[in-house]
Parts: sequence; C-alpha cells; structure tokens
Amino acid sequence: MKPKNLKSPLIWEERRPLIRDRILYVPQYYDHHHEWLFPGWEHPEIFGRSAPIEVEYCSGNGLWIIEKALAYPERNWVAVERQFERVRKIWSKMHNFSLTNLFIVCGEALTFTRFYAPDRSFAAVYINFPDPWPKEKHAKNRLLQEPFITQMARATAIGAKMMIVTDHFDYTTQITKMMLMSPLWNPCFPEPYFVNEWENYGTSYFDALWREQGLTIYYMQYFNHLQEGGE
Ligand SMILES: C[S@@+](CC[C@H](N)C(=O)[O-])C[C@H]1O[C@@H](n2cnc3c(N)ncnc32)[C@H](O)[C@@H]1O
Repeated sequence: MKPKNLKSPLIWEERRPLIRDRILYVPQYYDHHHEWLFPGWEHPEIFGRSAPIEVEYCSGNGLWIIEKALAYPERNWVAVERQFERVRKIWSKMHNFSLTNLFIVCGEALTFTRFYAPDRSFAAVYINFPDPWPKEKHAKNRLLQEPFITQMARATAIGAKMMIVTDHFDYTTQITKMMLMSPLWNPCFPEPYFVNEWENYGTSYFDALWREQGLTIYYMQYFNHLQEGGE
C-alpha cells in the first residue's frame, strides 16, 4: 500500500467528522464538533476491542508510533496528526504492517482532544517534537499551552503519564514553568524536570535528524494529578 492510495473522503462544502478505514477525520473550520457522538473505542470501526490506549500527538510520518504498535500489540495506539500528507504515510505503514491496534486521527490536537476524546480515554500520552515555533511572535501557536494540558488532564486516566520530547530549550523552559504551575499535573523527574537520554524510548524522523546534527534532546514526563471527581 502506498501513501497516495489514501484519498481524502472530505468534501469541503460537506465537511463533517467521519471515520473511514481506521482514520477519524476531524474537519477544520467547522462549528459542530460538539454534535459528534463518539461510538466508543471498542467500536468495530475503531479498535474492535477493549485495551489500554496510548496516544501520540504530532505523529509526523508515524515512525515512532508504528514501532510501538508493533512492539506492544496488547495496547491500542492512536496517532494524531493534522497534515493529510503525513497521515497518508502513517496509514500506508499501518496497512503494510497489518496493524490492527493502531487508529489514526487526521485533525488538530486540541480540537480532537476537546470534542472527540471522552473523559479518561488514555493510559499514556506522548508528544514527540511538537513544532517549537521559535520566534517570539509565533509562540502563541505552540500546542503545549494551558488549554491543551487541561484537556489532556481530563482525557487521561488518573496517574497517566504524559511524555514530551523536544530539541528546543526555550520550549522546554516554557513547558516546565506551565506544568509546575498546573494543579493538574505533577513532574516525574526532579529539578531540572527533564532528562537528556531515555533508553529504548524509540526514535522518529525528527529525533534522528536532530541527533545527527548533534542537538540536545529534552525528555519531560508528568503524571495526571487530578483527583477523582475533580476538574
Ligand atoms: C516537528 S514535526 C514532528 C513529527 C514527529 N513527531 C517526529 O518526531 O518526527 C511536528 C508534527 O506535528 C504536527 N502538528 C503540529 N501541530 C499540530 C496540531 N496542533 N495538531 C496535530 N498535529 C500537529 C505537524 O503537522 C508535524 O507533522
């Protein structure tokens, strides 16, 4: 199966959320997300079984999550990526490896989490090399901001871990400040709240690229500190 074999089923004028061939399409510029009725992760068009779900946001071409889905077949994996061209690459790998424990979300991370992910859906979350938006005037576009981590706290199990990996020191500093201020998340690592090596974490396109260039990688990990019944 080649990436180009996947054709987008969305017609702009008729856009609406839909599930096709193990991909949930979350439309952009759409005002009715809240009307979506989630069929449940066990639905035959999603995983068709009940198992802990681990989600990777910003999956790119899917190298990291494909390795994980192959290595841990007893878990369900969700790849979230907003660029259709990259979703195509994940999808072709999913088919070529006959992975039944991987589901893809073609959509924006915060929108998907807010409107489509039921409470306590995820057992673990990974965000590998989110776009750093290094220019100060673009920093507002960063994914890791208060609305996203609040939604993540709701969508993950109590005690679930969130891993964030970046090569960008300023982004690491901003994320650390925000996470330490949040009553919803607690750090897993002591000060400085990151490590620079993580054996067997797995690799991705950007991980390999930055390592080749000798860049330092920052691994952060936090756990969901929400109390049952809290918000
Ligand atoms: C720097 S790349 C990293 C890709 C991959 N994780 C890797 O390490 O090779 C960032 C990816 O995140 C996706 N992305 C950025 N912001 C996103 C958002 N808000 N929702 C979903 N995907 C997003 C981009 O399309 C891009 O594929």
